[in-house]
Amino acid sequence: MSLFLTLDQVNVTQQNVLVRLDLNIPLKNQMVSDDTRLVRALPTLHELIKKNARIIILSHFGRPEGQINPEFSLQPIARILKQYLDCLINFGSDCVGEAANFAIRHTPYGGMVLLENLRFHPQEEQNDPQFAQQLANLGDIFVNDAFSCSHRAHASVVGIGDYLPVVAGRAMEAELKALQSILGNPNRPLMAIVGGSKVSTKLELLTNLISKVDYLVLGGGMANTFLLAQGIDIGESLAEPDLVEQARTIMAKAQENKCTLILPQDYATPDDAFKIMDIGATSIHTIQSALDHCQTVVWNGPVGVFEVSPFEKGSMAIAHYIVQRTQEGKVVSVAGGGDTLACLNKAGVGDQLTYTSTAGGAFLEWLEGKNLPGIRALLAGGSKS
Ligand code: 3PG
Repeated sequence: MSLFLTLDQVNVTQQNVLVRLDLNIPLKNQMVSDDTRLVRALPTLHELIKKNARIIILSHFGRPEGQINPEFSLQPIARILKQYLDCLINFGSDCVGEAANFAIRHTPYGGMVLLENLRFHPQEEQNDPQFAQQLANLGDIFVNDAFSCSHRAHASVVGIGDYLPVVAGRAMEAELKALQSILGNPNRPLMAIVGGSKVSTKLELLTNLISKVDYLVLGGGMANTFLLAQGIDIGESLAEPDLVEQARTIMAKAQENKCTLILPQDYATPDDAFKIMDIGATSIHTIQSALDHCQTVVWNGPVGVFEVSPFEKGSMAIAHYIVQRTQEGKVVSVAGGGDTLACLNKAGVGDQLTYTSTAGGAFLEWLEGKNLPGIRALLAGGSKS
């Protein structure tokens, strides 16, 4: 039995059901370039439609910093949602107050209303209790189906639970079950592959991972800072020289914890500059050989500038090898984060790992073993009064 409530335990028929989704999806010229988050929200939405609930969707989009900014409006997403769902979908031009109430009043049971970007109000990110109550007043039950936002202690993730019962949506349920069963007590040896451009954004993650994993592979721009810390010439490559000391501390900690740290040994660079853009053939081979000893692998962040040819080779080779080992039943594989999923999709293997998480920051914090505020609120079950 789950430690949190799900849609199985509540009656949603003819109820106003507030659903927190993460509709922060990549849009290019009003077209979705990756609809994974949207597709994963569908089971909850289909179930609520079938059960004749009035669905009120809450989401943020981008980081408008508490200001109304049409660039970050959710209105185009309401139009896109219509392509995925066979029900009436209204749009509310504000997420609280009269505009929200008006849109909800004009939405029948079995229909849906998407409310405007929560982050147009600074109170959302401040987890302001009054704002949370205003949101809660719109509904009877709160469904959190946004694991990828659950590391944010915001009003629509946490505060709202002080006023309404909180249950997990189907995507949240699936995500927590998958992450818990695969990574709760992982089969070892366990490898983490961490890429991305900056060490600064992942310093804490790296420090925490060292004590949890048997192999830590570093790639992407962040690995350059570690190379610099070893006194290796990295030419004009992207690096953060002021973090060299911290990189040294992480390397020492890895040794203490018997964690094998794998850094790039050779690189791909453009013809006209010494600028590391990808790992080279020897590095790929080293990572693949280490992977042969592992039973679980977790991946966040490409190991090169995979968007720019020919610097996708390292990331593609790793993606294909992880898939091969997964298909052979040798390794359990999990990847998370938008760039990593885009990289897997580019390799044509987006659905061939054991599990992929659409969450970026939340996935990383979960990996670090942090207590996510949204999950805490879910476990608490919210106010039942
Ligand atoms: C994400 O894309 O990871 C989530 O939507 C959270 O977005 P945020 O980092 O702006 O809070």
